[in-house]
Amino acid sequence: MSLALSLVTVILSVSLADLKVGFYSNTCPQAESIVRRVVSGAALSDPNLPAILLRLHFHDCFVEGCDGSILVDNGAISEKNAFGHEGVRGFEIVEAIKAELEAACPGVVSCSDIVALAARDAISLANGPAYEVPTGRRDGLVSNMSLAKDMPEISDTIQILKAKFMQKGLNAKELVLLSVSRASVLYEILVDQ
Ligand SMILES: *[C@@H]1O[C@H](CO)[C@@H](O)[C@H](O)[C@H]1NC(C)=O
Repeated sequence: MSLALSLVTVILSVSLADLKVGFYSNTCPQAESIVRRVVSGAALSDPNLPAILLRLHFHDCFVEGCDGSILVDNGAISEKNAFGHEGVRGFEIVEAIKAELEAACPGVVSCSDIVALAARDAISLANGPAYEVPTGRRDGLVSNMSLAKDMPEISDTIQILKAKFMQKGLNAKELVLLSVSRASVLYEILVDQ
């Protein structure tokens, strides 16, 4: 549990600049409850959802920060088509949440915040740690698969992994925390099944 919480702290601390908990409390008070409701509904039919949404959040944040760029469809060159993002799923859940949020509060809630909130809700639904997510991210407009060429790969040596994490301002300890906590979330989900 504390490892998973460290993961979240690491991811969030990378881009905390102007974010705050409850950013939408005036402009779209129901935002977080809408996210939670859609995620809860989707989790009923897919027990892997927490792992899927955590992975989507990690992959989004690792390339140019948590800016939703992995969601942007820009044709063949789209970041989501990068080799390093292979097997990343959960896009349709984010789209379903976005559609409800647009109906409730048009043009207010960013897709990058949806990804961060959805990962949080899915993890807590899987009996993982509950944590607050500062919001107010702006969505990136660039989606270019060449920006995702430095995603960590299973086949990477520890030296390569260290270099890739260091490029993102993450040290060796954070590399271990991220790897172990991602594994532990997956493990807990498998054990629950
Ligand atoms: C994508 O990134 C590469 C490498 O930085 C660049 O050469 C290319 O022009 C970019 N493509 C687009 C459509 O922005």
